[in-house]
Amino acid sequence: MKKISHIGIAVNDLQKSCELFSKLLNKDFHTEFVSSESVTTAFFKMGESKIELISSDQDDSAITKYLKKHKEGMHHLAIDVDNIQNEIHRLKKEGFRFLNETPKIGADNKLIVFLHPKDTNGVLVEICQSR
Ligand code: CO
Repeated sequence: MKKISHIGIAVNDLQKSCELFSKLLNKDFHTEFVSSESVTTAFFKMGESKIELISSDQDDSAITKYLKKHKEGMHHLAIDVDNIQNEIHRLKKEGFRFLNETPKIGADNKLIVFLHPKDTNGVLVEICQSR
């Protein structure tokens, strides 16, 4: 595994949170709709890593369901890898379970998989590889 790609924060109102985080971080951001997850994301570049705000206005999206249950806040930790297939293979052998074993196209032009948080001390971990 290479480095922390980003930290994902689930928010109710993306526009308000973008204003808040651009004040907090004193940084610009760019937003992107991710159709595979039915979410809109905003990325703030912080050196080698990023902060990702995630929101959705669709009732059936995973983020909407998450926000109903847990409220706003830290949602996932994303780690960059060079070869996602090799890491999936390695992690499966180590006994980790995945929410999706087949990589999806995520935000920021990356292939992504999520590990099951029950296997990672309750932290939702995203593994991602640039395309
Ligand atoms: Co993410």
